[in-house]
Amino acid sequence: MPEVSSKEYPHNVLLRSLEEAASVLGAAIGLRQPQVGLILGSGLNGLAECIEDPVHIPFADVPHMKTSTAAGHVGRFVCGTLGGKTALCMQGRLHGYEGNTAQEVAFPVWLMHHLGIDTLITTNAAGAINEAFHVGDFCIMEDHINLTGRNPIVGTEPNEMALRFFSMLDAYDPALRQLAVEVAHELDIPVQQGTYLGLLGPSFETPAEIRAFRMLGADTVAMSVCEEVIAARHVGMRVLGMSLVSNMACGIEGASPTDEEVRAVGKQREADFCRFVPAILERI
Ligand code: HPA
Repeated sequence: MPEVSSKEYPHNVLLRSLEEAASVLGAAIGLRQPQVGLILGSGLNGLAECIEDPVHIPFADVPHMKTSTAAGHVGRFVCGTLGGKTALCMQGRLHGYEGNTAQEVAFPVWLMHHLGIDTLITTNAAGAINEAFHVGDFCIMEDHINLTGRNPIVGTEPNEMALRFFSMLDAYDPALRQLAVEVAHELDIPVQQGTYLGLLGPSFETPAEIRAFRMLGADTVAMSVCEEVIAARHVGMRVLGMSLVSNMACGIEGASPTDEEVRAVGKQREADFCRFVPAILERI
């Protein structure tokens, strides 16, 4: 065993953890070579049941992975075929508000990259700030405003996996965005496009915050996605981000969001979500 100096050790911890996790998850998925990573948000976990020839791996079985504690988030990987592609799906996600660090939230995204996946589709339920949006619409993320106050690259060493400084221009891949909108129109699924604003949560926003976020240019708001997308762009993955508008944001038309309503709308829109995502995958 080579001696590890205190200077070298922190530098390698993340990479070593990823290698250990990738070897366990890679062995569990066997000969499947996933092409696409999929993260399913609140109320949207049902899509994983549409995956053909699935293998299920609980997050708890993968070294260094945290587990999901949020209601409705199953907390396992499901690997199999969806829309003709081999997909590695997170049935449930890790949120900052559960007490996970930004790197713990980012870990499964980097793990996907380690397994050779170059495309990430991340989904969530979100509140609409834009009053032209309707509950039940899907919204393709054009860009984000990260107000979580956190960034998963903080503390990683330059060149540990990639450069420290990297561009977030077109972080949400323009070609994938266009494809998603085309597919939605073809399937007659109501779709919007807009800027997503990510917060740490878990309290919902105040009406004053929602008014402020509207002035900043945000169309939707929720408590996930930004850290995952930063991690994915750090290692050069293509990203598609998609929200289901589960509610109007707090204060709009008197709205006061609840977790139950968020998950109920996910259930109501599950059939369209299960048509939408596989149809995108078919054309990726
Ligand atoms: N705010 C924050 N997160 C959310 C919302 C919301 O209105 N809806 C679903 N997730």
